[in-house]
Amino acid sequence: MPKTHRIAVIQGDGTGPEVMREGLKVLRAAAGRFGLSLEFNDYDLGGERYLRTGEVLPDSVLDELRQHQAIYLSAIGHPDVKPGVLEKGILLRLRFELDQYINLRPVKLFAGVKSPLANKGPEHIDFVVVRENTEGLYAGAGGTLKKGTPDEVAIQESINTRKGVERCLRYAFDLAKTRPRKKLTLVGKTNVLTFAFDLWERAFNEVGARDYADVARNYHHVDACCMYMVMAPEMYDVIVTDNMFGDIITDVGAIIQGGLGISASGNLNPTPGGVSMFEPVGGSAPQYTGQNVINPLACINAGAMLLRHLGETAAADTIDKAVEKVCGELPGLNIGETGKGTDEIGDRVAQLVAG
Ligand code: IPM
Ligand code: MN
Repeated sequence: MPKTHRIAVIQGDGTGPEVMREGLKVLRAAAGRFGLSLEFNDYDLGGERYLRTGEVLPDSVLDELRQHQAIYLSAIGHPDVKPGVLEKGILLRLRFELDQYINLRPVKLFAGVKSPLANKGPEHIDFVVVRENTEGLYAGAGGTLKKGTPDEVAIQESINTRKGVERCLRYAFDLAKTRPRKKLTLVGKTNVLTFAFDLWERAFNEVGARDYADVARNYHHVDACCMYMVMAPEMYDVIVTDNMFGDIITDVGAIIQGGLGISASGNLNPTPGGVSMFEPVGGSAPQYTGQNVINPLACINAGAMLLRHLGETAAADTIDKAVEKVCGELPGLNIGETGKGTDEIGDRVAQLVAG
């Protein structure tokens, strides 16, 4: 008997359940072909539950999520819920409580996908962003004084610990080592954020020189990085950066690889027994709910990342190949461009995966 992987599923809000249905369809097809034993447990979290019960993420649910090997999440976000409640209460709380200190975002242009960048093909766009996922401006340090008065003060501080920075850098160096180009670019703002990125830069050079002499090190300011990602994305192999800059540059990355219809990410706790969470980069797109128009390939990609993380490499490779093939069959990947329904795209990938 194969080992059973227990996977918690969060269908989420808006179009989340529609894309998750296709993601699960593909994972089940992979399980059938490769003899995997996957157990899916649904957790009702998101805007609907919050509006119904006032609960965001009960501690008892968090404890149950900890008992899984991975979490598969579609998208959270509801038009009737104030911005921040669900993002901080569910997504960020899970990243922090489960110590998912890496946000891994592959940026790869598949053959047959049109990038908005002229004259750039799959040979130019193939890099991975390693975003620190538990510190920085996201840590929630700061506060407000005299709120609502003309003297109002708002402070939002970026927290960078040597431990948090170093474990993120080591993950990125280890990843760069496994890739043919073996090149790691630190993205920061050492010319202005002279406390935070001084720590990052020193740790980068110390750790790199001592333990990763075979990995080429490079540094770019974040503003220049945005230009290079558009002008010359072939410069990048692995990028490592802090939480806020990682959030911003990975949206540029998502667009150059074909858009939110395809981009996925992993929130990783790489320590043994850590619970990691996989999600499409795009949101819940509530205005399209029930219309069967959202491209499920991003959610399917997140499922492939999940299987890869669980060590099911052959199954993950097969899903990747099927997704790449289906990309070539679709006229476009964005809403209104695919010419196919959410379910039809899922069916086609599942059919290819089933073999
Ligand atoms: C992302 C999202 C989140 C983030 C939001 C929804 C809190 O933009 O995963 O990139 O900022 O990290
Ligand atoms: Mn983002």
